[in-house]
Amino acid sequence: MTIRPLLDGDLDSVIEVEAASFVEPWSRALFAEEIAQPTRRYITATDAGSVLGYGGIMLVGEDAHVVTLAVEPEHREKGLASRLLMALIDIARANGARHLTLEVRESNTAALELYRKFGFEPAGIRKGYYTTEDAVVMWAVDIDSADYEVTLAPIRAEAS
Ligand SMILES: CC(C)(COP(=O)(O)OP(=O)(O)OC[C@H]1O[C@@H](n2cnc3c(N)ncnc32)[C@H](O)[C@@H]1OP(=O)(O)O)[C@@H](O)C(=O)NCCC(=O)NCCS
Repeated sequence: MTIRPLLDGDLDSVIEVEAASFVEPWSRALFAEEIAQPTRRYITATDAGSVLGYGGIMLVGEDAHVVTLAVEPEHREKGLASRLLMALIDIARANGARHLTLEVRESNTAALELYRKFGFEPAGIRKGYYTTEDAVVMWAVDIDSADYEVTLAPIRAEAS
């Protein structure tokens, strides 16, 4: 399994995983626009050329925003999202981010648990963020601190 930057050539596979992962999936055109934005960093986990998952962040000064994260359904619960999120956090820190935020559906237990494991805490509800549901806004603060590294250390050990 390799984690590398997401490229235009990956997008046909990405939108298949996207359609299997989200109630309101992004289109190919939206992904193409997103990966071209200078403030975004998108990565993918691939195996033998197949896209198993992907994620993206937006870098805004000291804050970084996790904009998407998904794993192909048959490859879930094997640590792939953890490896992708770890890689996104490393990219955020390398680009000077100190805090990370994201929105997640209130009913998305798997994602809420994943983010909690990475030290994200709920900070509020964004009403009507999704067409059919509210979003929980989560933050992981001081991601450049020694304390945060203590949170990451066991996850890094598991992933290696
Ligand atoms: C959320 C998602 C990305 C998790 O991917 P994954 O590769 O299965 O996650 P991992 O195997 O790395 O799991 C990491 C942690 O997430 C949590 N988790 C993952 N799947 C879970 C599930 N079905 N139920 C509860 N917790 C779960 C656990 O805390 C897990 O840690 P553990 O293995 O120590 O228990 C995946 O389910 C997915 O693609 N869902 C659809 C898209 C989505 O909702 N993306 C998030 C948008 S905000």
